[in-house]
Amino acid sequence: MAFKLDSVVPWGRNLEEYKLMFGLDDSDMTKKIAEFGDGPACFNFEMKGVGGHVVSFDPIYQFTREEIEERIEEVRITVMQQMKENMDNYVWTQIKDLDELEYIRMSSMRKFLLDYEQGKKEGRYVFHELPARLPYEPESFDIGLSSHFLLMYTSLGYDFHIQSITEMLRVCKEVRIFPIVDLELLIIRK
Ligand SMILES: C[S@@+](CC[C@H](N)C(=O)[O-])C[C@H]1O[C@@H](n2cnc3c(N)ncnc32)[C@H](O)[C@@H]1O
Repeated sequence: MAFKLDSVVPWGRNLEEYKLMFGLDDSDMTKKIAEFGDGPACFNFEMKGVGGHVVSFDPIYQFTREEIEERIEEVRITVMQQMKENMDNYVWTQIKDLDELEYIRMSSMRKFLLDYEQGKKEGRYVFHELPARLPYEPESFDIGLSSHFLLMYTSLGYDFHIQSITEMLRVCKEVRIFPIVDLELLIIRK
């Protein structure tokens, strides 16, 4: 079935959050990193700024910058409303309130949008939908990351997750996933 942009809720995090989620230390920062389901996060852009090597994979990279930007604006109010209704399910230590959350998320996604076309030309944003086979040799990357995608959506089914992680482990020497609870149990740092 064709992947539709209106089935996606684009929501992007930044480098500082990725470092905390995945325990990325100074030596990790120099490694070849792949991020699966990276969406409109600015991790790739900010890593480039500090001399890092990240390739981001996501089905939304088949769409234009304008289409992704439009979808971000479409979902923004709904996502913030849902966050408000579910505030008690989250840990408010890193980010103190909803205003700060919205500010951080929108800043990250704006950075992504500014970098998107250049990053595509440089092969840093690659259209790919898990669990499809990736056009890479075994162990092409040192670290594979998945933030807020794998394990969260139980509706995708057990086989989807196993096949996706198996393919990630083929092209990456190690894989780190965050969070490791599904949406029903999700208590995370936003
Ligand atoms: C909640 S966003 C997380 C974005 C980013 N990783 C972050 O934490 O800021 C989930 C992402 O998973 C992507 N996604 C959905 N289906 C996918 C699939 N089959 N393979 C890879 N990524 C997928 C979506 O397009 C979306 O960008």
